[in-house]
Amino acid sequence: MDELRKEERREKEIDKTESGVFDKRTMLTLSKLMSDKIIDYLDFPIASGKESFVFCAKDTDGKNLAVKIYPINTSIFKNMMRYVEGDPRYEHVKRDIKSIVFTWARKEFVNLKEMRKAGVRTPEPIEVRNNVLVMEYIGDEKGPAPMLKDAVLDRETAEEYFMQIIEYIKAMYRANLVHGDLSEYNILAWNGPVVIDVGQAVTLEHHYANDMLIRDLRNIVKFFNKHGIRERVEDIEQKVKSND
Ligand SMILES: Nc1ncnc2c1ncn2[C@@H]1O[C@H](COP(=O)(O)OP(=O)(O)O)[C@@H](O)[C@H]1O
Ligand SMILES: [Mg+2]
Repeated sequence: MDELRKEERREKEIDKTESGVFDKRTMLTLSKLMSDKIIDYLDFPIASGKESFVFCAKDTDGKNLAVKIYPINTSIFKNMMRYVEGDPRYEHVKRDIKSIVFTWARKEFVNLKEMRKAGVRTPEPIEVRNNVLVMEYIGDEKGPAPMLKDAVLDRETAEEYFMQIIEYIKAMYRANLVHGDLSEYNILAWNGPVVIDVGQAVTLEHHYANDMLIRDLRNIVKFFNKHGIRERVEDIEQKVKSND
């Protein structure tokens, strides 16, 4: 059987197992994380989208964790390929769905680590196994931190958030990274901005890196415009690139 047909058959099998919430392999990964005492149990769902499910979980000390699960399916595969190919860190990855989704979860884990090292506030990555990423939970017993889009900010706080986010973009850039999906949806407001959802972040060598940076800056400038902050994308781009 040629490779393409093999791949199609595999996709069909995956679709079949997805009639439940998670496929068997994901269940197995979760139960392994439990027997290894990284997670005690999944507590409640925080968010579910096309590309991921995020849960609040507890560790064995009763501390909150965030668990992000990437479904292994075809709909997200193409999008993921765009950000894996061209990133020199992932040149030698196999190109089937499972490998790409696993790589994606690992890429998010590594990006979180690199960003934190660069001084960007992100959830602390704790463990990655196959398509499951375990990280620090941002929030408290009352619930997860709000997304920036839902946060209530007075003018002064908005200004502080804006400046901090630009500092984070600069810090990423110095660390050779561009977030690529930065917006009020992927920043949590928890006593300052917390950058999340970093799976797609690529190194500056990537052929999309510059477009991704501009898009990030446009999103941020547009959002803070609504809070009365007037800045030009071109001016910030200049500052980011000249590290000023
Ligand atoms: N570490 C975390 N702590 C608390 N909430 C989180 C955490 N990570 C993600 N979330 C919540 O889950 C949602 C989806 O997570 P995100 O990483 O943005 O995935 P997606 O790729 O599906 O957008 C976020 O908007 C946020 O509300
Ligand atoms: Mg998101």
